[in-house]
Amino acid sequence: MKGSLIISLSLLVLVACTSKSPMDKYIDNLMGQLTLEQKIGQLNLHSAPGFISAEKVMEEDENAKLLNQGLLGGVYGATNMTILRQYQDIALQSGAGIPLIFGMDVIHGHQTVFPIPLGLSTSWNMELIEQSARAAAREASACGINWVFSPMVDICRDARWGRIAEGGGEDPYLGGEIAKAMVYGYQGRDDVYDTDDVMACVKHYALYGGALAGRDYNSVFLSRQEAMNGYMHPYKAACEAGAGSYMSSFNEFEGIPATMNKWLMDDVLRKSWGFDGFIVSDATAIAEEIQHGIGDLQEVSARSLQAGLDMDMNSDGFVGTLLQSVKEGRVKEADIDHACRRILEAKYKLGLFEDPYRYLSEERYATEVYTPENLAFARKVAQECQVLLKNEGVLPLRKGAKVAVVGPLAADASSMAGTWSQSNHNAESVTLWQGISEVTPTTFAEGSWLLRDAAIEDGVRYGLIRMFAPGTPIPPVHARPQAALVAEAVAQARRADVVVACVGEIPGMNGEGASRTDITLPDTQVEMLKALKATGKPLVVVLVSGRPMDLTAVEPLADAILNVWSPGSEGGHAVADVLFGDVNPSAKLTTSFPRSVGQLPLYYNHKNTGRPHPDYEPYRKFTSCYTDELNGPLYPFGYGLSYTAFSYSEPVLSTTEMPVDGSVTASVMVTNTGKRDGDEIVQLYIHDIFATSTRPVKELKAFRKVHIPAGESVKVDFTLTKEDLSYYNHELEWVCEPGDFEIMTGPNSRDTQMVTLTVK
Ligand code: NOJ
Repeated sequence: MKGSLIISLSLLVLVACTSKSPMDKYIDNLMGQLTLEQKIGQLNLHSAPGFISAEKVMEEDENAKLLNQGLLGGVYGATNMTILRQYQDIALQSGAGIPLIFGMDVIHGHQTVFPIPLGLSTSWNMELIEQSARAAAREASACGINWVFSPMVDICRDARWGRIAEGGGEDPYLGGEIAKAMVYGYQGRDDVYDTDDVMACVKHYALYGGALAGRDYNSVFLSRQEAMNGYMHPYKAACEAGAGSYMSSFNEFEGIPATMNKWLMDDVLRKSWGFDGFIVSDATAIAEEIQHGIGDLQEVSARSLQAGLDMDMNSDGFVGTLLQSVKEGRVKEADIDHACRRILEAKYKLGLFEDPYRYLSEERYATEVYTPENLAFARKVAQECQVLLKNEGVLPLRKGAKVAVVGPLAADASSMAGTWSQSNHNAESVTLWQGISEVTPTTFAEGSWLLRDAAIEDGVRYGLIRMFAPGTPIPPVHARPQAALVAEAVAQARRADVVVACVGEIPGMNGEGASRTDITLPDTQVEMLKALKATGKPLVVVLVSGRPMDLTAVEPLADAILNVWSPGSEGGHAVADVLFGDVNPSAKLTTSFPRSVGQLPLYYNHKNTGRPHPDYEPYRKFTSCYTDELNGPLYPFGYGLSYTAFSYSEPVLSTTEMPVDGSVTASVMVTNTGKRDGDEIVQLYIHDIFATSTRPVKELKAFRKVHIPAGESVKVDFTLTKEDLSYYNHELEWVCEPGDFEIMTGPNSRDTQMVTLTVK
């Protein structure tokens, strides 16, 4: 008996050994040859120095020195192919000879730039979003990059946060669909990394968008239940799509910085969701844990590793302290082994052990980057990402009409590229004025200062240059008086048929480290709009922005408002395509646009409270509202106009009673009642009105973008199952609780029609 047990056990061990994958065998073998120091070296990621030349890499570069000692696992932020090649050469010749992974912030396109992610999300077109990530992957990989710091899937409900520009808006379900599309786009839909695939890095894990008061890097105070229901789904969806890596976030959660938060990284991401890739810290996030008040560099490095973090970006905490921590028994070598293995696995999956130079193809670099085809695609993408917020019959414009193009953003190429664009071609982006002037006769006037305060304007325009390239000549701001700029614009407006005012935010006013307490259009620009309005000429506002702005003062001045975000390399062309009606706008908001900053955080999927107050009714004592403002947004989540109009039938359910394990189909008839063909984004929301925890008044659960020719109707069917009706209860169990649900369909989150479904 005993003997046969031993035989079966040995058989088991044998089977386990022989059934190891080639990757596991390769990495077992490699790890066996590494010293502890070399393993720690793999956990170290550095940025490439900004202005180093290829010739200098060998002699002066800190990274080259670390590489020579085998103390670097990856480099990010370098796109110069010669430098990347030199780094790889050194890595292969040094101690362990392990190839480097090359990362980069490829956020919305690479050299060819697509609309900023918030803009991209307003297309609600997952195929398009996937293709845009695919195009970015092709370009990035042709530039030597094999790992991109994207998608950014942080849900945000507070437009003060500058980084709302980088994500997919306020809704977790939509955010999850976008996260999947982006991961598929970057990595491809199969398990193999081809040379034009790159590894995704989902960020910022987790809950970074919940920063208190919208102030960047601020603490996050959410319950676990609210986090799981309102914020975590996109991170999970990205994991299900096979994302290869995650980046931890700067914020704390439950009193523990995310970068050392075991619950987030180990319990949820790894154990509950089954993530098997590696987690990198955000830049200097380990060292920042000292500022959080957790301890010295040795302490925070040890705790981060033990919580499940694998790679240290720019803190030198792992290379600087882990060896000592092992010697002191503070950290187990096994923890370092786990982290090192995950990083080596990523390199193996990327094919770097087979050919460390497989992404370093000069030929691809010369032929596949910033091509006419990619630019044409960028134009198509940007056409689908413009939200028409208002149109009093003035759009589309007539080709041939004399247009006065005015405003501080009309001729600004960098505002087309937007935040987090590191393209060499940003300055060539097609400006709004250029795009419009290719279609019709125009004049141009700057029209106003960007901002009243010259010091702040200088900061948002040139802050990065001052920080990273001191000594670069910088033109003065406010070179001409505001009154002269306005007068010039007014004079041109008087001579024109129509005015197109290009206003809003330049990239320095949104994105990382660019939170605002005032999200109105700057008063200098409003002053210009008022003067233009007084001319009596039709006034079209083209709004460039990276966040939902408070447009309360702008709305009454404009005959039309087209929100174009930062639309990318081909922005000016794509905006002109919509302004002149070659393209019928179809985008819809993925964030609520507030009436006032005082409403923030503002989001459509809020709870009801025990004393609810209707969104668009004035103040009433002892209800949940404001004395001085409506509860409802100026423009709701899901909102956007078209040059045609659509009408909706009431939703019809295939059954009004659904067994928990059954399904139900909600059908709605959508009719194009206008004169033009158009695309409409049809939305379905639910409200769980009988649950053991409170549930949001509306939750998006399905949507479909449909093309409807003029005068025709399309029936849209949505099938719902238990999965769509489930949520995380107080014990964090994923449950579908029997009871009544409101099922709502409509063109946006405000204008819905409802039927009731009973789940048994
Ligand atoms: C900090 C940002 O938070 C993150 O999004 C970015 O990927 C890293 N820096 C690297 O540039």
